Amino acid sequence: MSDKLIFPAGFVWGAATAAYQIEGAWDADGKGESIWDRFAHTPGKIAGGATGDVACDHYHRWAEDVASMAALGLGSYRFSLAWPRIFPEGDARLNQRGLDFYRRLIEALNERGIAPAVTLYHWDLPQALQDRGGWLNRDTALRFAEYAACMFRQFGGEVRFWATHNEPFVQAFYGHGTGENAPGHRNPWEILTVGHHLLLSHGLAVEAFRAVLPRPATSGAPAPQIGIVLFVWPHHAASRSQRDQAANRIADGGMNRLFLAPLFAGGYPEDLLRHFRWRGMRPAVRPGDLALIGAPLDFLGLNTYTRLVNQANPFDLLSGARQLPARGPTTAMGWEIYPNCIIEALRKAREYTSLPLYITENGAAFNDVIGPDGAIDDQNRIAYLRQHLAVAHQAIAEGIDLRGYYVWTLLDNFEWAKGFGKRFGLIHTDFVTQQRRWKRSAYWYRDVIARNGLVEE
Ligand code: FCB
Repeated sequence: MSDKLIFPAGFVWGAATAAYQIEGAWDADGKGESIWDRFAHTPGKIAGGATGDVACDHYHRWAEDVASMAALGLGSYRFSLAWPRIFPEGDARLNQRGLDFYRRLIEALNERGIAPAVTLYHWDLPQALQDRGGWLNRDTALRFAEYAACMFRQFGGEVRFWATHNEPFVQAFYGHGTGENAPGHRNPWEILTVGHHLLLSHGLAVEAFRAVLPRPATSGAPAPQIGIVLFVWPHHAASRSQRDQAANRIADGGMNRLFLAPLFAGGYPEDLLRHFRWRGMRPAVRPGDLALIGAPLDFLGLNTYTRLVNQANPFDLLSGARQLPARGPTTAMGWEIYPNCIIEALRKAREYTSLPLYITENGAAFNDVIGPDGAIDDQNRIAYLRQHLAVAHQAIAEGIDLRGYYVWTLLDNFEWAKGFGKRFGLIHTDFVTQQRRWKRSAYWYRDVIARNGLVEE
């Protein structure tokens, strides 16, 4: 690696979080129940019986957290809005106190020159909508569009980047296929319907965005932008055999092409439709849906952490593939450390779109050790981030229009079904005292941001 990798001027340096993972205050100030509240309160769903009831208590400690972001020098902070905090029943009744929380947060970020990057939905559907079928019910897409339109009217001009969804793949496959995530359904037949309704809700929200915030005719202050955040993990076949190659194509299809193609190429890939139809699964597409889903965006966000290696497995009725265990060193998630995931995910996106791209999540969980002096010398996380940023730099040199990078995550938080055991943060959270402590990687990232790149000492 060269000793100096400087990024283009204006490159966005960020960190990301999600509402349920950090906010806590699960029933404070009129917030409604979400499917993650219900799921985490169900015994046996989350490692160690953990819940996000308190999490990082960010709802009450947001000012301290924003001060940390400013000290890091973040150019942008990506976070999500908890829909049931704002609309406790999912529709109709607006909860002013929930809205006020986000207004304070957005104002504080802007005052400090940290561009808010807001995700409207990071998996915490209002339980009241789940009771009416959730994402299986087409009506939920309409409710989402109303919620989105309201947010655009409330905060439109103050938020630089809007993303409709975070990883519809995960919501559809883990929420409804494996049941690892809320609402915990284990019913593969739901996956394509849920996926389609998520995409439809995205399209409807984009339509609302353009109506509320038409693109300015002249360029002045940066105009608010709309996009979506996808889970794009590269897939490799375990061997050159035709069976492994075919299985890999379908596995890659289910995770990546199933969402990229309707968003950017006019419809669902034929080979996937054939594959799933044979299993009795089909998306509930109505006339006009695909045009809505394909509406032009301003940017695309990619979350990528590793690669997956697939081997043919006729016993897996859903994908026909089995993921081989990681070959090399892994993070505490058991995910292979594979820095090229960055460039492979970006190239995959570029097959579909020439939009500006952002890495909206990348980072690593490790078993951090607090030293006797209280320091957390997480060299493994620094090495991970450095290697992945070096590849991001290479992608830009290759001509890929990568505009920014967000570390997952600002501070250790509730890692979904894994509970609090998996620490991805730049900042350590003591979940008993709520004390925050910068890890060595936070100081390191602060210097990367200040130098706009990697400068080895
Ligand atoms: C992503 C999620 C994020 C976090 C990381 C580790 O899939 O978007 O909330 O859990 O994984």
